[in-house]
Amino acid sequence: MDFKAFEKLTCGLYIVSTAHEGQKAGCVVNTVTQVTATPAQVMVAIHKDNTTAQVLQQAGVFHVTVLTEEAPLPLIGRFGYRSSKEFDKFAEFETLLDSNGCPYTPVGAAAHFTCKLVQQCDVGTHILFIGAVEDAQLLSEEPPMSYSYYHTVKKGMTPPRASSYQPPEA
Ligand SMILES: Cc1cc2nc3c(=O)[nH]c(=O)nc-3n(C[C@H](O)[C@H](O)[C@H](O)COP(=O)(O)O)c2cc1C
Repeated sequence: MDFKAFEKLTCGLYIVSTAHEGQKAGCVVNTVTQVTATPAQVMVAIHKDNTTAQVLQQAGVFHVTVLTEEAPLPLIGRFGYRSSKEFDKFAEFETLLDSNGCPYTPVGAAAHFTCKLVQQCDVGTHILFIGAVEDAQLLSEEPPMSYSYYHTVKKGMTPPRASSYQPPEA
């Protein structure tokens, strides 16, 4: 199998966030997809060991933020490489709450979605979370960050818990 083929699947970069009983959690993902328009539903794949997956299952609600090409790398570093168990990832960024009480930051955001969890599917290492979109807002006309832009222009890396992670060739 040629794993380079998977690099031809286009996708963007997002932060999925949630909160339950005072525990805030959020992580960078590249796996958000709109699955239906009527009703509006989105899907995201999150690793079972990510704190975000565990808190999301308890909360039953989540927030999706679409990152722009100008999203600061420290934001991606915090949300993409650290655990929400270690510290409050939102502490250094302007943070707002959606109507379900999920935290999100408008920093480096092109658009955002307020979602209610309606289905989940265990796919092994990850869980697919399907959310009904309760609200959606455009925040910026900046181009959204594509996964390809993140790699080629921002020179960003992908950690092991990302769905698209490939170990370095021996
Ligand atoms: C570019 C990029 C893409 C990522 N994509 C995913 C993804 O689709 N699903 C996932 O579970 N983790 C993904 N991650 C990894 C999580 O963001 C990372 O494991 C994070 O530290 C989890 O934080 P948490 O434990 O607070 O939830 C990605 C990270 C980066 C930098």
